[in-house]
Amino acid sequence: MPEAKSDVSAFATCAHIYKDAGKAHYCSYIQVPGLLETFYRGARTTDEFLLCSTLYASLLWWNLQQKELDALLRLAEAGQALSPEQLYDALKRINRCVEIDRIMLQQGIIARSELLRHNPQINFRLAAGDMNQLDVFTHTARQTRHLEQALSSFKLKEGADEAASEHLLSSLKDLTLTHADSFNTIQRDFRDLLWAMHERPAPKVVEFEKVVPVEAILGFARATLEKHHPQALAPDARTNDELTFITAHQAFEVWFPSVIHAIQEATRLLQLRPAQTWEAEGLVRRVAEIFSLFGRMIHIPQTMTASDYIEFRDQLQAGSGVESFQFRAIELSAGLRDKRYRKIMERMKLLTDDLEILWDAPSLNMAFMDTLAGRGIFAAGDDPTTKARKIAELLVPASFANPNVDLTALAESLVRFEQNVELWRTDHIAMVTRMIGRKTGTGAATYAQLANPADPEKMHFDSLPYLRNTLTYQKIFPLLWDARDFMHERS
Ligand code: HEM
Repeated sequence: MPEAKSDVSAFATCAHIYKDAGKAHYCSYIQVPGLLETFYRGARTTDEFLLCSTLYASLLWWNLQQKELDALLRLAEAGQALSPEQLYDALKRINRCVEIDRIMLQQGIIARSELLRHNPQINFRLAAGDMNQLDVFTHTARQTRHLEQALSSFKLKEGADEAASEHLLSSLKDLTLTHADSFNTIQRDFRDLLWAMHERPAPKVVEFEKVVPVEAILGFARATLEKHHPQALAPDARTNDELTFITAHQAFEVWFPSVIHAIQEATRLLQLRPAQTWEAEGLVRRVAEIFSLFGRMIHIPQTMTASDYIEFRDQLQAGSGVESFQFRAIELSAGLRDKRYRKIMERMKLLTDDLEILWDAPSLNMAFMDTLAGRGIFAAGDDPTTKARKIAELLVPASFANPNVDLTALAESLVRFEQNVELWRTDHIAMVTRMIGRKTGTGAATYAQLANPADPEKMHFDSLPYLRNTLTYQKIFPLLWDARDFMHERS
């Protein structure tokens, strides 16, 4: 097995070939290499990675939510009746805060069930007193209280539609209730988690700020805005849309190391003899859960409208998540090896040296196929169709006698993982259509033209054709899907 790439420092430099000097590139705009540099260097186990991802993503979301709550409070404290535009703006901020609460809850469920369970693999403990480091709780609790008290201060201008006024008040009420509810749960879970991390019998004691460098993590979005739109940082900034866009991408990027690490660890466990199939299954289930969280996270950019997005999207004209090298690392570590995919990545010059290494390394899919062969499910010389038929035989109902129940469970979890990837892709495509329509080409189109400006196929690289293709040729576990076609033939 080649050296694990999930050491995030391995990805800490941007190796992309193309950069337009006049425009921001994904890596510099989202500040991915820098953001990953802040990832706790002592993290080794999948649980330690998960702890860091959860804490970093939470900080990013809280930062955004606090800014929106502050903006709402300012509106209330100004004591003036709101214009129709201010009403529309307030509703947007309310919606964003509620969406963030939902994500935080779903994220909290993952952290609780994976890290507060029996014996998580965390080999350090937090120093005493560090459990109170997240003063974000005190601040947010104060904001929520103020907002509740300010409810009666929100008024619309004389003559405003009564229904509009009613709509605003009920949305605010909903926000204060949802927020107070979710906030209490999240606060309880985080306190439990941090206390558990303090009381562990681990020999190594680490200070909280070493594990979670709060200022550094939050500093990256600030630096991007300072460079491109400093007015967005003013305390009374007109909107937090660009911060929302940056934060959403950054939250994904701080989750990605946990996904990459869990996939590579599951691969390693399957390569052991005997293969540790149940342990690997647990990790694959975790990755599937995280992708389900990603499905929720993609709602955050949609708390702005297409016209809000157009206000600042020019900065990222030629860039997009297509350049996320961690996303590619997930695909390759999991098992994507489709030759059409490779051709497209080469054409767009996105297959960096680090990713080439992953292309040649054993993937989770390969390790699972080897495990099936090792268990005698496959015979030497089986062609892909025969293998798919044999996998179909393995997928028996839970109540049936089954000597390979661990492999059946693992096969189902792998499919669930890929299903959640596809759901994410589908949601993302719908969101892209909503935001930029069907005609605009961004990163993919630019990259493809770089490779060959006269390319007769270049229209396939416009955003939507490109993204739709990703749903057809990018199967990570192709035989597990093919097996579905043979289920009805099972003996
Ligand atoms: C307003 C929000 C967003 C818009 C308009 C948008 C737009 C696009 C477009 C047009 C593409 C296709 C490639 C291209 O033409 O450049 C793309 C790809 C991609 N985007 Fe987004 N995106 C948004 C939000 C996000 C977020 C929050 C993430 C999270 C990391 C993300 C991750 C990706 C990834 C990973 C790809 C590559 C997909 C693949 O090649 O399989 N995007 N995006």
